[in-house]
Amino acid sequence: MRVLTGIQPSGKLHWGNYFGAMKSMFDLQEKGENFMFIANYHAMTTLRDGAALREATKDVALDYLACGLDPAKSVMYRQSDVPEVQELAWYLSCLTPMGLLERCHSYKDKMAHGFDATHGLFAYPVLMAADILIMNADLVPVGKDQKQHLEVTRDLAQKFNNAYGEIFKLPDAYIPETVATVPGTDGQKMSKSYHNTIGLFEAPGAVKKKVMGIVTDSKTMEEPKEPEGNSIYELYKLFASAEEVGTMASNFRAGNYGYGHAKKELLAAYHRLFDPFREKREALEKDPGSLEDILRDGAARARAAAAPVMEKVRSAVGL
Ligand code: ADP
Ligand code: TRP
Repeated sequence: MRVLTGIQPSGKLHWGNYFGAMKSMFDLQEKGENFMFIANYHAMTTLRDGAALREATKDVALDYLACGLDPAKSVMYRQSDVPEVQELAWYLSCLTPMGLLERCHSYKDKMAHGFDATHGLFAYPVLMAADILIMNADLVPVGKDQKQHLEVTRDLAQKFNNAYGEIFKLPDAYIPETVATVPGTDGQKMSKSYHNTIGLFEAPGAVKKKVMGIVTDSKTMEEPKEPEGNSIYELYKLFASAEEVGTMASNFRAGNYGYGHAKKELLAAYHRLFDPFREKREALEKDPGSLEDILRDGAARARAAAAPVMEKVRSAVGL
């Protein structure tokens, strides 16, 4: 089974991304054939600064490698290193009804947020379909917001198959309902759009400041507190063992245990998990040659997977 996912290099990755998406991908790489690419073409729909795009692309690669992506088990590549996706996107475009794209929520949402109405933004789902179909992916792990794009992908695969013969597999979205929504420092869902994130590799001082600043109610230290639903406790659950979580819950319920204490424990638990990742990231960052080698090797493996599909496609469309 081939699993494929794309990550847009836009903004620093945060705790929500790690527990909501990255961690399950690292688990999947033990089971199937795992493809992960950095969607730098897609990022150009909203980012128009070459240096920033290059930097963000490298950051995503470093973050994934530091946190557990194993290049021996997973194929990690830059989208732009497989330029055939652009070619396939054109073939799919020629079969894409305008109305299908006009109905896409993410396009409407971008318009509502004042983005320019460009062709790139409008055609975004077609390029995404090409990313997926070119690799013959079976399963595509995505967030709920991408569900419609997977429906478009299946729709376009079907249209292509109807026109030219059975070439594409219809991929399934994989949207794990079991993944908890990670709360941000203000208690809402952690998201870069809400400015409530804690970055995976922010400077330790900045992480401390954010953790100590997590919004709580105004109960005094002495008062007993219900831990469930409390952001500090919900975040601690992600980092700590069941036993540690149990201890924090009884401390809260017993009283004489303040939010400040819990925040310090959360910070310590973050460091236990992330300090080794940070060390690994620093080592990789000092060795840009190895990073480039990993990405080039990934690109070669990805292009090899795409080649037989493209051969069939070109022949089917009459080229
Ligand atoms: P953001 O909301 O910061 O823009 P993205 O939409 O780029 O994040 O999310 C990338 C991936 O990380 C998606 O799979 C999404 O489901 C996951 N993710 C992001 N934030 C959270 C969160 N707070 N809780 C759980 N998963 C999250
Ligand atoms: N649109 C996805 C997002 O914003 C990123 C993406 C691009 C993607 N191409 C993909 C995800 C192909 C899965 C498969 O999160």
